[in-house]
Amino acid sequence: MIDAVVHGASEVIVDADTRHESAAVAVADGEVAAVGPTDAVTREYPPENAVASVDADGRAVVPGFVDSHTHGLFAGDRSDEFAAKLRGKEYQEILEEGGGILRTVRAVREAGTERLLGNLLGHLDVMLAHGTTTVEVKSGYGLDTDTELRMLDVIAEADARHPVDVVPTFMGAHAVPEGTDADDYTDAVVDEQLPAVAEQGIAEFCDVFCEEGVFSVEQSRRVLEAGEEYGFTPKVHAEELTHLGGSQLAADVGAASADHLLHATDEDAAALADAGVTPVLLPGTAFSLGAEYADPEQFREAGATVAVASDFNPNCHSQSMGMAVALACVGMGMAPRDALDAATRGGAHALDRTGGTGTLREGAPADLAVLDAPSHAHVPYSFGVNRVATVLKQGSVVHDADGLAVPAPEALDA
Ligand code: NIG
Ligand code: FE
Repeated sequence: MIDAVVHGASEVIVDADTRHESAAVAVADGEVAAVGPTDAVTREYPPENAVASVDADGRAVVPGFVDSHTHGLFAGDRSDEFAAKLRGKEYQEILEEGGGILRTVRAVREAGTERLLGNLLGHLDVMLAHGTTTVEVKSGYGLDTDTELRMLDVIAEADARHPVDVVPTFMGAHAVPEGTDADDYTDAVVDEQLPAVAEQGIAEFCDVFCEEGVFSVEQSRRVLEAGEEYGFTPKVHAEELTHLGGSQLAADVGAASADHLLHATDEDAAALADAGVTPVLLPGTAFSLGAEYADPEQFREAGATVAVASDFNPNCHSQSMGMAVALACVGMGMAPRDALDAATRGGAHALDRTGGTGTLREGAPADLAVLDAPSHAHVPYSFGVNRVATVLKQGSVVHDADGLAVPAPEALDA
């Protein structure tokens, strides 16, 4: 069955190397069946035979964004901390005073499960409207076994209910909860939380905040190595606020990604590239902290596939991957095409989805966005403005702000 034909596009970005002008994408069984010049594709796959015919009408088509790092499930409001940070207060200071992550932990523990699910589904709607088709969401605002499990349940439920694919990460080691210390809490994560999370069977990755004043390299290593024994692939929040050694740890344990990396060295970049760890750069975090941006060149020169993600969380409050791409260009000096690649194919690598996700190669999942703009460059060029018109997830139209999709007559009759 032909699910969809998107035709008449000014350009289709297939991946970092391939781009077609005056192009079309045909989708069968949820996958890209053909991509190339509109004439050739529509001869083989007539739009009138498809469940949905999308007239891109001179607009650009890009792969759906793969947002590989978010803390998108939370409750409460921390907008006042944003103002405090602008007045000079440090992120770490806020955390040490029981604010920041710890404040969100209190709000999440108090929130009912329905409220948490409603919050996440609402954020997924915004992400989808901004072109995200796959998103990673971490736990880590529970910091006790029951609430961490509840967060992972909500993440799984949101994945089942929403067209966006939601990838679950367990992050019990996100902060040290009040009333304990890092060593004791590391024991609790390893001895109590990890076995319970493994039994629950939802999480795919295990992440840790390896940072001065949070979890040391050795504590982080304990959590990640224990997680690996249960089958969780490691991820590391590394060199975000200081240089501590999280990158070397990520390389040692064969992590899927090392994330943030604002203070990474050239040696760190080489270690990550050699170990096949994807560096995930989060320009929104640097932007909202008023910090220096990470340096993508450092990682590209080392030979790594770089990812760009949103880091959507109460400290970095933007669900928009278009905004992350704009910041990657303006703040980190990436070319629009490279930033787009990092936000799509790069994100897929950070999530170990290397079978075509984040590209529009033949055989890849047909996750794509039609922009209301003639080229992909308008994503960062129109910073702060959403240029996504229509989104397809595995070939189904799941968002259509501009009404570009026309269901085939058969579909209307059905
Ligand atoms: O990736 N650095 C740790 N975790 C988040 C922030 C979470 C929060 O402040 O609530 C991050 O930036
Ligand atoms: Fe994070």
